[in-house]
Amino acid sequence: MAEELGFFDAMRAVITPLTSARSLFSILEQAERQGVLTALRDGATPGDVARAVKVSEDWVDAVCAALIVNGVADSDAGEIRLTPPWRALTAEDAFQPLRNIFAQSRAIDMMLSTPDATYSTIAASERSAFAHSVSPNPYSRELVARIREDPLADPWFAPMHAGGRYLELGCGIAGRMLTMLQAMPRLHAVGVELDPVLADEARDRAADLGLADRVDIVTGDATTYRGDEAFDFGFWSQWFFPTATRADALASMFANLRTGGIVRSPVFGEHERMAHEPFGEHARQYSLDRVLLASWGVPERTPDQLATELAAAGFIDISAVRTDATTSIYARRP
Ligand SMILES: C[S@@+](CC[C@H](N)C(=O)[O-])C[C@H]1O[C@@H](n2cnc3c(N)ncnc32)[C@H](O)[C@@H]1O
Repeated sequence: MAEELGFFDAMRAVITPLTSARSLFSILEQAERQGVLTALRDGATPGDVARAVKVSEDWVDAVCAALIVNGVADSDAGEIRLTPPWRALTAEDAFQPLRNIFAQSRAIDMMLSTPDATYSTIAASERSAFAHSVSPNPYSRELVARIREDPLADPWFAPMHAGGRYLELGCGIAGRMLTMLQAMPRLHAVGVELDPVLADEARDRAADLGLADRVDIVTGDATTYRGDEAFDFGFWSQWFFPTATRADALASMFANLRTGGIVRSPVFGEHERMAHEPFGEHARQYSLDRVLLASWGVPERTPDQLATELAAAGFIDISAVRTDATTSIYARRP
């Protein structure tokens, strides 16, 4: 029988790495908020940083020492500079601001640690932060250019370039839709969002991007939404829909699409990769995300399970398409 581990050895082995990572994350969050990370991006002394951001030099000294020991910054002749990964994360054109990543993590912590906190019950500001972190940034020109190429490589959605009507059930702050509308100038879209704060934000962003005449954001329940005119394309953000709403959401998608209309729904997680590396980094992160989704009442859906769900709702010609890291299920209304 293996020898029992003593309390302190066990602490060192499994608890200390977790608490240290959490403390470092909190320090980074505070350092970002105070402007310390920005000040250190291209190199500065702790004295320069303290003067620039108007905080005590003792605190900056301690923070810099923690950043150096933990691989966030390097020191060269008294000047402290962020290491390459942290420079990438704090770049002006970063995929998303570091602030969003911290805010998303705070929202996740809140939901994981509070029994009744779900996506719909956390504070609106936390929900918005979370929505930003899972949504493409429609203000990114690079992303708009990439999305313009996407349907060309994707026979299901390629006809969108010629125009048509696109429906998104659960559009959140509409990052995806607003990016697509810029990439496809003949497309018209309707997004349905249950949360009024997110729907308002989506509407404001549509106006800000000059897209208000081609997009309608409906504040309401996707399960009962019925448009006045049929849609050619549909998108279902399925991993935000709890079990009790799924059949009705799909019935709504079916009712709103024209005959021959296409629906796309993304699968959460890379299931093929996890099958090969069941204890790999991706599988570990996925298992934690699953706890969050389960707390919202959202069931796990592998590509096969999602395809079965779409078939049960009456869709045909169902297939799984993999692009980059994600798999989506496509299907047609008969
Ligand atoms: C985060 S969004 C998806 C992100 C979006 N694709 C984007 O690019 O911004 C998913 C949304 O579905 C919404 N949702 C969940 N159930 C819904 C329902 N029954 N009716 C309308 N929206 C719903 C959630 O409030 C959430 O905002």
